[in-house]
Amino acid sequence: MKLALSLLKTLPAELAHSLALNGLKLLDKFGLLSFIVKEIKNNELELLGMKFKNNLGTAAGLDKNGDYINSLGKLGFGFLEVGTVTPLPQSGNEKPRLFRVFNENAIINRMGFNNKGVDHLVKNLKTHKYNGIVGVNIGANKTSEGEKRIEDYLSCFRKVYEYADYIVVNISSPNTKNLRELHSADQLNRLLSAISKLSVELDNTKPIFLKISPDENDESLKQIVEMVENSIFSGLIATNTTIDKTLLKQSKYHNFDGGLSGAPLLNKSNQKLELINTIAEDMPLIAVGGVINKETYSKKLESGADLVQIYTGFIIKGPSIVSEILN
Ligand code: FNR
Repeated sequence: MKLALSLLKTLPAELAHSLALNGLKLLDKFGLLSFIVKEIKNNELELLGMKFKNNLGTAAGLDKNGDYINSLGKLGFGFLEVGTVTPLPQSGNEKPRLFRVFNENAIINRMGFNNKGVDHLVKNLKTHKYNGIVGVNIGANKTSEGEKRIEDYLSCFRKVYEYADYIVVNISSPNTKNLRELHSADQLNRLLSAISKLSVELDNTKPIFLKISPDENDESLKQIVEMVENSIFSGLIATNTTIDKTLLKQSKYHNFDGGLSGAPLLNKSNQKLELINTIAEDMPLIAVGGVINKETYSKKLESGADLVQIYTGFIIKGPSIVSEILN
């Protein structure tokens, strides 16, 4: 496994990412995945009526289309989040758009919601064999603006509703122009109301989370927490990537376009998590950002997280990070 990871490090990031996920899928197909996966000490928990084998899951973006649910599901995670998915397929931003900064345990990405569209994801949700919790993260197409943007969320919400254990409304990608404007009170109010209304029409049994940016100031964050508390949304996912690349030591990356994830994001993301937990102690929280080992995972739980997700740590360390954290 170590040799495979070293080889992947020499390849362009996006190619390595795709080879790694397809490699896992192939190993799974030939029944070989169990040889690289250590047994996990599970710690079952229940949140919002959902039963989790443990509290560590994959973050959105890793499996945007639900193509790898079966294989990722065998790595010991307590839950998976797929997406972000948009109504129409879209190719995302120009390549290269994914950059690994190995010596700082970080990634910069400006993928731009490349995905095969919600219908493709729904097919995968209907047929997968994973028996754990699968959350679905939804977004808007790049070309949609204003009211059309809200319609995009509604369209995805409606289509994935039956097959998702929980749904995440992602307003925090920095790589879709103006998407983060949805954090503003007026726009967020309209989005929350529209989704709440649809959820009620659909029986209102699925937990809904709002995934937020770490780049909002404390005032804005307080307002968001209040709005979520007063809505039918269940909780928050904190946080997405940051646009502040100066958190990296190497100044050559400071003017790169895109969102920064991994170790340099940890403190910023935790500050937001702690603030949310202070304002709304009982709000269900999924924490993500900068988890690269057991210590950073434990810090999320101490800061008020109910569940923890990883992305960059998984890319850098491979599947062994699951047992490293949970055992
Ligand atoms: C992401 N992330 C992300 N988030 C999201 O809600 N929808 C998405 O489509 C994506 N896509 C995506 C692609 C890539 C390449 C990366 C690195 C990240 C953000 C991700 O889910 C997570 O919030 C951040 O990466 C912070 O967690 P880590 O990476 O520090 O564990």
